[in-house]
Amino acid sequence: MSYSGSNHVSRIPDANGYYGEFGGNHWPAHMGPALEELTGAYEQLRSSPDFRHELDTVRTGLQGRPTPVLHLENISNQLGGARIYVKREDLNHTGAHKINHCVGFALLARRMGKRKLIAETGAGQHGVALASAAARFGLECEVHIGATDADKVNANVDLMRLLGARVVPVASGQSTLKEASDSALHAYTEQHAHALYAIGSAIGPHPFPMIVRDFQSVVGQEARAQFLAITDGVLPDHVVACVAGGSNALGLYSGFLDDPEVALHAVEPLGKSAEFGQHAATLTFGRPGTLHGASSVVLQENDGTPAAVMSIASGLAYPGVGPEMAMLCKSGRVSVDTVSDEEAVGTFLRIARSEGIIPALESAHALAFAIRLAADRPRRERILVNLSGRGDKDVDFVLARFAPGGLGTEPGDVDRQRGPAGLRRYALHPGKPHSR
Ligand SMILES: Cc1ncc(COP(=O)(O)O)c(C=O)c1O
Repeated sequence: MSYSGSNHVSRIPDANGYYGEFGGNHWPAHMGPALEELTGAYEQLRSSPDFRHELDTVRTGLQGRPTPVLHLENISNQLGGARIYVKREDLNHTGAHKINHCVGFALLARRMGKRKLIAETGAGQHGVALASAAARFGLECEVHIGATDADKVNANVDLMRLLGARVVPVASGQSTLKEASDSALHAYTEQHAHALYAIGSAIGPHPFPMIVRDFQSVVGQEARAQFLAITDGVLPDHVVACVAGGSNALGLYSGFLDDPEVALHAVEPLGKSAEFGQHAATLTFGRPGTLHGASSVVLQENDGTPAAVMSIASGLAYPGVGPEMAMLCKSGRVSVDTVSDEEAVGTFLRIARSEGIIPALESAHALAFAIRLAADRPRRERILVNLSGRGDKDVDFVLARFAPGGLGTEPGDVDRQRGPAGLRRYALHPGKPHSR
């Protein structure tokens, strides 16, 4: 593991934790010593060969890295345009990219003499990954989750408990990711003497966004080498990732940020519509503000209160974004597009039937955009997408909500799906009832 491969990564953030105008530490002053302790420990450990060796060993043995890059041949052939490849972060132990930084935080906590990890989770993927890392390294684990999300991804809540975590359901506001983050941050401020906050994304005050980005950079480093090996030395033309806080996107981008010929795309959730309160497209509709200890771009009311947000993907329903993503988008290095709930679900079904892979609804947003892009681009171009997680957690919800009468079984049924029209067809499909 090395973080020094990228010029971009070694240049930012600055000494105060700023990414251009975004970032910094906007937590209450009494948390200053805890953040300084973490910054000091991380600066010491990040260059320690011993720590890097320990992390590499865990990545191989516990996580199952490296994860492969796969050409989605069936979808690419159906589209007839640019070819789509995926980085299979869904094949990580616990099913998503989140474990890349969870094992890093667990090792850091142990070296710092902390006995507990605290975090928030939305889709439950970060919670399960953290619970697993905590169990492996003999640490206590406390995961805060919005009550609405806990109902939606209840299988992940069971997994967290099975792995020994204390799950704290949060019933306030919309009872989703923002409220879970508020609650976890509060718990950390009370317990920082013996606990480390293993934040779920590249958000929060310095040094959290930097630490998460660094631990996630393994995704981009691997993907770059794998892609070059598959294509005999040709880089992808486009690199695509979904974005809430930015951990999976920054991880994948880190392999390509210094290659101006590679276009980087961020995909945000348009939810039900572009109307305020119906989506969580922060970079598209937000404005500068401060949330969870960092200045960044925030979806907010006129008085600065974080807006209500909506997305079918719990892990994307967040009214903020990490400061590095905000900087990369503002500078134009990363372009931003949106995908609606309906298009994401259509893609979820289509990828399952066409490629034999069930993507997380979060990742289905990135795949949906890649499908749109591929259809518009020539065959010679290649698109690399971060398949950030697997969709087992979403299966019950999608089937109950969108295919209450069961899915069709005719060959090619889903291959012909095109977003909303396809969904309506599924909702009306008279196939056999879905049994659970
Ligand atoms: C599978 C998956 N992908 C993506 C995300 C979005 O988070 P981030 O922007 O930090 O990658 C989540 C968040 O829960 C997730 O579970």
